Amino acid sequence: MSGFELLERDGLARLGRLGTPHGVIETPALLPVVHPDPARQSCPAPVLRERFGIRALITSAYITWRTPPLREVAEREGIHKLLGFDGAVMTDSGAFQQHAYGAIEVGPEEILGFQARIGSDIATVLDVFTEPDASHAEAEAALAATAERTRAARSSFPGLLAAPVQGGPFADLRARAAAGASEAGDLLAVGGVVPLLERYRFRELADVLAAVRPSLDPGGAVHLFGTGHPMTFAWAALHGVDLFDSSAYHKFARRGKLMFPDGTVSIDDVREPICRCALCSVTPLDRIAALPPPEREPHLALHNLLVSFEEVARVRQAIRDGTLWELVERRAGAHPALRAGLREATARPGTFLATEPESRRAFREVSSESLARPAVARFLARMRDFVADRPLAREIPPIALTPEYLSRVPARDRSDCPIAWNATTPLGPVPLELTELYPVGPFLGIAEFESPRSPRSPTDVSRALGTRPELDADLDRDWTEAWTERQLRTGLTWQYGRALADRLAPELRGQRSRRTGRLRKLVHGGSPAFVLGDDGVPRPTFRGAELLRANLPGDRARVVAADDAVPFVRHGRSLFSKFVVAADPALVPGSSALVVDGSGELLAVGRLLLAPHEMGRLRRGVAVRVTAHRSGGEDDGSPDPEDRDRGPPE
Ligand code: GUN
Ligand code: ZN
Repeated sequence: MSGFELLERDGLARLGRLGTPHGVIETPALLPVVHPDPARQSCPAPVLRERFGIRALITSAYITWRTPPLREVAEREGIHKLLGFDGAVMTDSGAFQQHAYGAIEVGPEEILGFQARIGSDIATVLDVFTEPDASHAEAEAALAATAERTRAARSSFPGLLAAPVQGGPFADLRARAAAGASEAGDLLAVGGVVPLLERYRFRELADVLAAVRPSLDPGGAVHLFGTGHPMTFAWAALHGVDLFDSSAYHKFARRGKLMFPDGTVSIDDVREPICRCALCSVTPLDRIAALPPPEREPHLALHNLLVSFEEVARVRQAIRDGTLWELVERRAGAHPALRAGLREATARPGTFLATEPESRRAFREVSSESLARPAVARFLARMRDFVADRPLAREIPPIALTPEYLSRVPARDRSDCPIAWNATTPLGPVPLELTELYPVGPFLGIAEFESPRSPRSPTDVSRALGTRPELDADLDRDWTEAWTERQLRTGLTWQYGRALADRLAPELRGQRSRRTGRLRKLVHGGSPAFVLGDDGVPRPTFRGAELLRANLPGDRARVVAADDAVPFVRHGRSLFSKFVVAADPALVPGSSALVVDGSGELLAVGRLLLAPHEMGRLRRGVAVRVTAHRSGGEDDGSPDPEDRDRGPPE
């Protein structure tokens, strides 16, 4: 079984590593489809290797097998020699030819054995391609055959195996297929979707990806057969696709089409130098357009590939930056069908919530879809719980949430009830005390740049407050201290519940940043116990973690480390996935957690990279990045820049 390792993530999208006999594939990755016949390659593998530095590709074992001269070379010298490529070679089994041409003349064992003989790095089970318009009975029969072949393949093939996930348009079958593939496959290859991609049926594709999600083993790499248009990469990665493959670069080139992340352009229409990629800046597109079609084709294919690899790089960067939703929303402008696919995805926030990070550095409103992101859905749901036991006062007018303003907000009303005034935010009315939390705090919205139609400056606000007789309008009083206490209590309640906040708040003192006025630290007996970042979340230091351990019941906020890992974690090393015994299911990636041993002793505090349901199921890599540990000094709540991702040998 493979070891897919997750290094960084943005929700379901993962920067990861997949080891193969011919090198590591860094995901998300695009595996270009290369024809096994060198005479039929618009971009030969050595050129791809040299020009684009590709380290993995996909080719057809079936076409190699059915073409005697190719078969002979492949069997004698191996598929790498045939292609002239020393990177990772994934081979496909012929199911797609079955879709395109009807029957194929090879059996599942024969084509699997062939893939083994030619030295494929990742072999694909011969699945039964299921059309998106198949009946339930047809799809179920095809699924049963694919599942049987997959089981047989696993018992006879020791290498990396791509297990196809079919099931047609039926959510129940897709889920069953994903569960079956997860038992056998190193790659979980979602198939039967090329007709959806070709006809821009992204809404249905979103349904397929949502249906398979809960049943996919997080330890497998997710492959989507046929994702070849760069406008789809960000969208597919957002749905947890690690590997794209396609011959689209080549097929589009043959039809005279240039691919861009924001759509497709026909070379016949090009009269201006609209691309300055490394190729098109040497030979301008208007000159290419004047060539006869066969001479244009290699240029167009290379342009398409170059643009595709550039877009994969952008997706990877967006995952690092936590801005993938923004990129997807921008890409959704490429075609209304893609936008419909995005809407379908956000209509089911449940697909994303288990891996949705606790916070991100920023929240930029890009389009009318932005407010449907899972981050917003989660915040609003939690906010409803938070305010459930207290009356929401009427809205106050829109305000500028500046520190100056916040420092003047009265902390209690005169009857000593908890205040529950609402600030009008882009997410609707939100209790003022929650407005520094992600996504409200770092929200960069369109309204901020519109002409001010409503009171925004502190003076305007004081005027607005002044008109409300039931509020404390004594704005000359210094309310900072009362507000600080309120925020401190709110932060703890939001994170850990009211009981914990009631217990700890009296022992803690809030410290504001002198520069920005924002609440930065909660101090306990002279030492920082919690540090607040720009996301407004109080993160425990080791001291804070000790307070939490003593006061939080049961498994709350805890990740339990196996005995083998205890000495390492105690000294500040990260906790690896395979050493996780249990984790509080309410945690999410980015949450702060107490790392404890089997007896509940506190070893360290850290931030989750994996969601609890993923821990232990990824056999490689880090689950919790330790930020402070028993024998460590002071810390600021953020992961140590120095590499701590080392632990017991894996
Ligand atoms: N290539 C494109 N779609 C598919 C599919 O569903 N299965 C296989 N094996 N290859 C494909
Ligand atoms: Zn170009």
